[in-house]
Amino acid sequence: MAPHVFLLGFLAVTCYVASADPSPLQDFCVADLNSPISVNGYVCKNRNLVQVDDFFLSGVNVPGNTSNAIGSNVTHFFAANFPALNTLGVSMARIDYAPYGLNPPHYHPRASEILTVLEGTLEVGFVTSSTYNPPNQLISKVIRKGDAVVFPEALTHFQQNLGNSPAVALATFSSQNPDVNTIANTVFGSNPAIPSYILAKAFQVSESVIADIQSQFGNDLKLLNKGEDKDGSQV
Ligand SMILES: *[C@@H]1O[C@H](CO)[C@@H](O)[C@H](O)[C@H]1NC(C)=O
Ligand SMILES: *[C@@H]1O[C@H](CO)[C@@H](O)[C@H](O)[C@H]1NC(C)=O
Repeated sequence: MAPHVFLLGFLAVTCYVASADPSPLQDFCVADLNSPISVNGYVCKNRNLVQVDDFFLSGVNVPGNTSNAIGSNVTHFFAANFPALNTLGVSMARIDYAPYGLNPPHYHPRASEILTVLEGTLEVGFVTSSTYNPPNQLISKVIRKGDAVVFPEALTHFQQNLGNSPAVALATFSSQNPDVNTIANTVFGSNPAIPSYILAKAFQVSESVIADIQSQFGNDLKLLNKGEDKDGSQV
């Protein structure tokens, strides 16, 4: 093997190790969500208290309510509400889209994502990093039922329902807690707000344009920022 090929392989392996959740040191470690001890992830529930049902999940078939400003609803199944995922490095989400509904530009700081269309037709895309070559390239396509797309870790991506009937997708993630940063909410809906003179300069528009956008974040867009799951718990 040529030395540079070996080096590339070595780099690929080390980068992978550095960017995914840590590997488990036992078969499983069902999260004890009530433990007062804080670790990277969750403390394992006592092995004797682990039940068969801990490894099962229901309700993935239940649609989220898409009657909101953007017409989408993401139901997360992360370690915080599916405790068996703790230490396993995977999680998932169900995404419902109203007709023409949008899952707005956002990124997951800790996971790559595979999104599979279960129903409907979506325009999906992600944008490369600002120092990648070429920088900030939009990679997008219209995908249909049965198609899938991968969104690389920490890159900004979106999906828009192109149909006049509801659409559904299933997302799977390479982390037990991918987390979500929605661009519009983090930039315009932070609490307290980023001063408008900063955003005016960053976006090269007047402060009144910024104030107008910021004012949109007093209503249900605020709720969308909280990452609320089906039973109202924070994930
Ligand atoms: C998503 O759907 C759930 C279940 O219907 C609902 O409780 C929640 O408020 C919805 N979230 C948003 C942001 O609309
Ligand atoms: C969906 O959310 C809207 C807005 O909050 C609400 O009016 C409606 O009753 C909800 N629908 C269901 C089925 O819960």
